[in-house]
Amino acid sequence: MSDQESAATGPRWTSEAAEKWLSRVDGLERSGAPIRELLLERADLQPGERVLDVGCGSGPSTAAAARAVHPGGRVTAIDIAAPMIAAARQRVRDRDIEWIVGDAESYPLPEERYDAIISQMGLMFFTNNAKAFANLARASRAGGRLVGVVWATRDKISMFNFLFNSVRQTLDRLNIAYQEPPLDFGPFSTLHLSNSSSGRAVGPTYGLRRSSDA
Ligand SMILES: C[S@@+](CC[C@H](N)C(=O)[O-])C[C@H]1O[C@@H](n2cnc3c(N)ncnc32)[C@H](O)[C@@H]1O
Repeated sequence: MSDQESAATGPRWTSEAAEKWLSRVDGLERSGAPIRELLLERADLQPGERVLDVGCGSGPSTAAAARAVHPGGRVTAIDIAAPMIAAARQRVRDRDIEWIVGDAESYPLPEERYDAIISQMGLMFFTNNAKAFANLARASRAGGRLVGVVWATRDKISMFNFLFNSVRQTLDRLNIAYQEPPLDFGPFSTLHLSNSSSGRAVGPTYGLRRSSDA
């Protein structure tokens, strides 16, 4: 896969985007609870483990990870948006968590450090996926695991499909011409992470070893 092919197309997270997210943070954290549960279940974190949470936002998955690795474990959380980290510090209030404002794609993370790298909806915004996953792989200890949740393609998400079809029907009814957007549009797609029809190819595509296809 060339650098050009692996280049992401998604929006960059800015402080402005973060402020918008934070204005609705309670509801967003609540609605994310089921996928967070799934993420934590798949990550199978153990007491004493070192964990990196990528794109931690306001910190709900970071807090859950910190509980799971207690006692003796340590969680580091990284987010590119400073307002997100400021909010996470306020909301989580766990002095053992290390918070980093930085781009997970290029931030100099310690090498071979983490037993598990987790991410709830934070892996689909990289500018260069190959570079980003290589950075994460370097930070993982041998045998470590990467567990992330990302959107599926638009056609598989009823919420987006419903909205998309409603707009399409209206445009059709009004006889307004439009260009069909691709299924792998921006972050709403596992295709964004790999060029196969399934995000399961993330590991092999970026030189990571896959431990589970689930
Ligand atoms: C959709 S939000 C998810 C936030 C949180 N994980 C949650 O589920 O509540 C995506 C998060 O990823 C962060 N992010 C985007 N690109 C990033 C990057 N390159 N490095 C680190 N964080 C990033 C954003 O700032 C944002 O907080």
